[in-house]
Amino acid sequence: MKKVSVSFTLNGDPVTADVPVTWTLLKTLREYFELTGAKEGCGVGECGACTVLVDGKAVNSCLYPIPEVEGRSVTTIEGIAEKDGTLHPIQKAFLENNGVQCGFCTSGMIMSAKALLDQNPDPSEEDIRKSIAGNFCRCTGYVQIVESIQMAAKLKE
Ligand code: FES
Ligand code: FES
Repeated sequence: MKKVSVSFTLNGDPVTADVPVTWTLLKTLREYFELTGAKEGCGVGECGACTVLVDGKAVNSCLYPIPEVEGRSVTTIEGIAEKDGTLHPIQKAFLENNGVQCGFCTSGMIMSAKALLDQNPDPSEEDIRKSIAGNFCRCTGYVQIVESIQMAAKLKE
């Protein structure tokens, strides 16, 4: 299989991946960098479990071709806590507000929430629901997730 060498910033550090040209960003994160926080749910852009940030925007990494990552900045769930392990306010809010049940959707939800709160620190409930419209959760009924993001907005103030 033809390989490609892709250089980009991953959670603040410069990295290079030498991977098959057909790989996605999700496959590269999970299998080359062993960052397994982003999950593969559907693999076709419908569930949001694979959401990461590319240049600050939430993307479905299962659809993102790795060659298109060249020169960009990627942030995953592994990159949002402080270096000393202090959780990001969105992570704290999800834990405190029972926004996590089985956890499969959680990293994608948190990354979508981060993309929203980085752009809009005081979102309405409608803004929050729109921001996670592409993230499916089969456990929580979404109420605790929306409340977690509302709490995170307050914690970030
Ligand atoms: S695994 Fe990417 S959207 Fe479902
Ligand atoms: S907590 Fe289980 S899918 Fe959302």
